[in-house]
Amino acid sequence: MRKAVWIKHASQLVTLASKLKGPRVKGAMSELAIIENGSIWLEDGIIQAVGTTEELEVFYTESEADVEIIDATGHLVTPGLVDPHTHIAFGGSREKEFEMRLEGATYMDIMNAGGGIHSTTRMTREATENELVIQTSKRLDSFLAHGVTTIEGKSGYGLDLETEIKQLRVMKRLQKEHPMDIVPTFMGAHAVPEAFKDREEDYVNLIINDMLPLVAKEKLAKFNDVFCEVGVFTPEQTERILEAGKSHGLIPKIHADEIEPYKGAELAAKVGAISAEHLLKTTEEGIQAMAEKGVIACLLPATALYLRETAAKGRRMIDAGVPVAISTDCNPGSSPTTSMPLVMNLACISMRLTPAESLCAATYNAACAIQMEDKVGSLEVGKQADVVLWNVQSYQQLQYLFGVNHVKTVWKKGLKVVG
Ligand code: NIG
Ligand code: FE
Repeated sequence: MRKAVWIKHASQLVTLASKLKGPRVKGAMSELAIIENGSIWLEDGIIQAVGTTEELEVFYTESEADVEIIDATGHLVTPGLVDPHTHIAFGGSREKEFEMRLEGATYMDIMNAGGGIHSTTRMTREATENELVIQTSKRLDSFLAHGVTTIEGKSGYGLDLETEIKQLRVMKRLQKEHPMDIVPTFMGAHAVPEAFKDREEDYVNLIINDMLPLVAKEKLAKFNDVFCEVGVFTPEQTERILEAGKSHGLIPKIHADEIEPYKGAELAAKVGAISAEHLLKTTEEGIQAMAEKGVIACLLPATALYLRETAAKGRRMIDAGVPVAISTDCNPGSSPTTSMPLVMNLACISMRLTPAESLCAATYNAACAIQMEDKVGSLEVGKQADVVLWNVQSYQQLQYLFGVNHVKTVWKKGLKVVG
């Protein structure tokens, strides 16, 4: 018999439904389209109906399915959260570096001494594909437990053809084996590998001539990301890599202006990147360039906190007309967390997003940052039935009661995966 789930009587059903297309900017980011005494019908993995509980009664009377009824009285219901920026498929762990940083070493000191991204690269190269699948799968479980039902995942801990491909294959396998939707990004330009020290151009050429063509041919990635940073990849190298990716159909993203201002945001606008990430040190010119070209600012306040840096100017960016998304940046060095709820809290606390903007940034705008907004990011008829039931009454409470995982139940494509 067909099965359906009817969630009814939600104190707030936050749909984020809108007639607007594309990433939302100031004003639209606050329009959450909330239904009180809300109700939603999930069947065949898809949202079949959304409305008030009275409106959906008819649906129930006429349905021939075996319906599980969920009484959501006193509970908030939202779309599954979307995390548009993670480095999830890696080997090992770096708690020693956490201690080193607390003792005074900087993130770049550690990286330049062969630690940081390089140490995770060593551990990722050593791990077998199966080992990486097991480790990554556990992280995906943790994401689901925090209400995240779609993530982006980057390679970039291989820094050689074989391991970059291995990381991307791990994500491709997990897309089939795990309930999570994973959108893959190639990030061979995450660091210059130690073997290429002082001959960075050779590595850039390896990415352009060998890695990108194979990644594209095997359809292993949708996006192409570069760590554009002083001492890592210059804006010129970044542009070459992103243009080469574009010629293979890969959409650009940039880790921009994270540690030092480097005109990364301006470059994102120039190359037509879908999003620019981090942006802790972006200047007013960079903000204007992103606003003009509609580049999504993907802000990572947990990373700023973890590196004990000042967060990106989220408030200013929204006020200037930049569409903002937020993300965990889940990675073993600068943000080892899977908690999007915490990231939403931090977006309010350290970047002064309003509770409504923060939720939009973690759902609909996040979906736009990985071009998944036709399927996920809002509760609308025909979209995937990715839904979270929370142990709070309102989205305002969700943002206010910080640092706690309020998830009660999660449905992915209509199936209960948590709770
Ligand atoms: O987004 N900034 C560069 N890449 C990651 C950190 C990677 C690592 O430290 O392993 C980031 O913060
Ligand atoms: Fe990152």
